Amino acid sequence: MKSLQRQTPPLTIELHMKIFLDTADIAQIEEVKRLGMLDGVTTNPAHVARTGARPAELYPRICAICDGPVSLEAISLEADAIVEEGRKLAAIADNVVVKVPVTREGLIAVRRLSDEGIRTNVTVAYSPTQALLAAKAGATYISPFVGRLDSIAHEGQELARQIRVIYDNYGFDTQLLVAAVRHPMHVLEAALTGADVVTMAFDILMQLYEHPLTDQGIDMFLKAWDQVPQ
Ligand code: E4P
Repeated sequence: MKSLQRQTPPLTIELHMKIFLDTADIAQIEEVKRLGMLDGVTTNPAHVARTGARPAELYPRICAICDGPVSLEAISLEADAIVEEGRKLAAIADNVVVKVPVTREGLIAVRRLSDEGIRTNVTVAYSPTQALLAAKAGATYISPFVGRLDSIAHEGQELARQIRVIYDNYGFDTQLLVAAVRHPMHVLEAALTGADVVTMAFDILMQLYEHPLTDQGIDMFLKAWDQVPQ
């Protein structure tokens, strides 16, 4: 049995960790774009519900603001219906990625959407074997929900690490997208694991900027500057 060491990544992997914003809130997406940190967006039905907007109006706006991939979730449960819905979502804009749950029907749909050149984000994943099947189905992204595992006393990040090893062992192109992150430590752990993408809420991204010593250091230098003759 191979040890759980990270293998040398295949050359096809883009060695730059992307930050996706996990929201459907236009103001947040615009602000993160202004900060120059917006590599993509992941939405889900709960995010959309919170905005109070109609998907038909909201989705094209998000896709127009974000230059990178935008995950829009299919809510159908049966393969034919997911494929149908996925095609409609993909027609909204070139940067749409269809989010599909990691079920038997979902993975049938992922294979078909993938064969049609439609990108997919396989979501609500909680086991490395689900991730293996998602990769075999041709998923563009796999989204392990690490924070939700932590909240039932399972180590979420261990799941991400195992997926990284499996994908690297076999050179799967499917990108590891760490999701349901709850705090900056999840982001740090995902980066140390070698996740291709981490998707996070706006507040967590803002926390990544913060360090009390940075504030203290700036304050100290500004006070010193007051003593400098002008
Ligand atoms: C990811 O794509 C999901 O939208 C998200 O991370 C789900 O996380 P939650 O547990 O915060 O709902």
